[in-house]
Amino acid sequence: MMKRIICLLLALVMVLALAACRTGKPAEEKPAEPAEWTRSGYYQDEDGNMLSVTWMDDVDEPGWYVGFTNGDDMMEDSYGGLLSQDGSTLHGSLPSGGSRDDITVTLSEEGEDGLMLEIEGGETYHFSPMDLPEATIIVRVNTEGSGNIEYTEGEEEPEIDTEYPYQSAQINLAEPAVHTFKAWPNEGWHFVRWTKNGEDFSTEAVITVNLDESADYIAVFEEGIDYLALVNKLNPLPDGWEDALETVTITNSLGDEVEVEAKAYAAYEQLKADLEVNNAVYIELDSARRSVAAQQDIMDRFIEKYGADYAAKTVAQPGYSEHHTGLALDLYFMIENDNGEFINVYHNEDMEKEEYKPIWDEIHAKLAEYGFILRYLEGEEHITGYRYEPWHIRYVDSAEIAREIMSQPGLTLEEYLAGKSAPEVEIDLSGSKLYSEEELYDAMLAVKCKFASWAGCELKSIRYAGDDANSKEILEWLNSLVEDGKFTETAKLLMDFHSSDNDEQGLNSNFDYKDYEWWLARTEDGDWEIVSWGY
Ligand code: DAL
Ligand code: ZN
Repeated sequence: MMKRIICLLLALVMVLALAACRTGKPAEEKPAEPAEWTRSGYYQDEDGNMLSVTWMDDVDEPGWYVGFTNGDDMMEDSYGGLLSQDGSTLHGSLPSGGSRDDITVTLSEEGEDGLMLEIEGGETYHFSPMDLPEATIIVRVNTEGSGNIEYTEGEEEPEIDTEYPYQSAQINLAEPAVHTFKAWPNEGWHFVRWTKNGEDFSTEAVITVNLDESADYIAVFEEGIDYLALVNKLNPLPDGWEDALETVTITNSLGDEVEVEAKAYAAYEQLKADLEVNNAVYIELDSARRSVAAQQDIMDRFIEKYGADYAAKTVAQPGYSEHHTGLALDLYFMIENDNGEFINVYHNEDMEKEEYKPIWDEIHAKLAEYGFILRYLEGEEHITGYRYEPWHIRYVDSAEIAREIMSQPGLTLEEYLAGKSAPEVEIDLSGSKLYSEEELYDAMLAVKCKFASWAGCELKSIRYAGDDANSKEILEWLNSLVEDGKFTETAKLLMDFHSSDNDEQGLNSNFDYKDYEWWLARTEDGDWEIVSWGY
């Protein structure tokens, strides 16, 4: 309730741009406004103190809500609360908006249109109505489905108030103003989109809008999980995901238990049956839904087994793995050996062997029909953030959407959801007498996987800077940048890219970067490590 009261207080102070007053849920039956008391609105006294009187009937306790400020500090000098009516006066206690003691006041009508406020044991104030500019822009914000909204003036993301959530608000403005709205779902639901005047407006839960015309905004929520949720290096698992998630747990051919989102599992079973009957390909589920703790275990194991650099290209940070959704499935397969026995092929390094490419091709060709896509595509690491994984498939709950994505070579889920595909990246890894193009390709992969976490940046080209960058001085310099540096080889890559509208990475915003430098080093036969980058 305090929040609504503070809203009134804010309304008092914001004279030029009339402040919003949240309306909350509509009351089923509106209690009648008592006849003996008629004065409401915004008032001011000769010293600039302010008073608001509002009849609120859409709250748990309908009645006269009064806001009072007797100083410049909008919180500390403000009081607000519900007064009870006693004939032709309003009376009661007004809690402080700051840290002061409550005051007990009596409000009575004075003169033709004024009000007198008496503080018990304190001063008396004489108020006259304020001449407020008329609101010309009226923006209504509502919800559809089960969820809530918050909003604030400016570009800051509003804080969620779980104690007093709002399903509707009305913002009255005398002149245009920028506001930021935030939609957040109730348990078991997810946010889908904002609409403006009935038209789709944005799929971002937080939107900053310049309110320069009257409009109706609606935050639309749907029950269950969002089968198109994007979880990647930039987007963690959405809040409350588990509340709406239904899973099944099965045991695979290795005897391991695997938990999967229920619909994704039903689709997987169909895919598996189709591949067995029509292609004699036998797929199994290695891993699907993972808790954050399980992802941490995998990360730790990979770092120990393959090193941090390999892990960075292969394993998501806990909290940022698509596996948390239950919609990402890691496959492996069984093949018949020379003795007619079925053996499991499930280690990454085995599944990646060239000889198994035809098996993956057969699997991938059938994914879309069952609502799956291949998620981490070769060549798109700068967008997905991970090296090619033939085994990692993602359920999107729609064969139509899956077909649309899978039929466009190189189209990632990120691009599909953004509604635009990134331009082709120019790559030139030729010209080295020190390294093969495959070795430099590995260096480039490390760079691309890191680049994917630079929000909104668009990669244009990557090239090898030449063997000159492998001097003794450079080697010493790169070794000096890390603890206990034992590198024996270095490589420099150059990149052209366009930065995003914001300066999140400490980059110039909206800028064409040319010949941006990436310094990598390795010990012979080890993985390339990115040691330094920039100009
Ligand atoms: N292997 C994928 C990127 C994950 O760890 O979620
Ligand atoms: Zn995976």
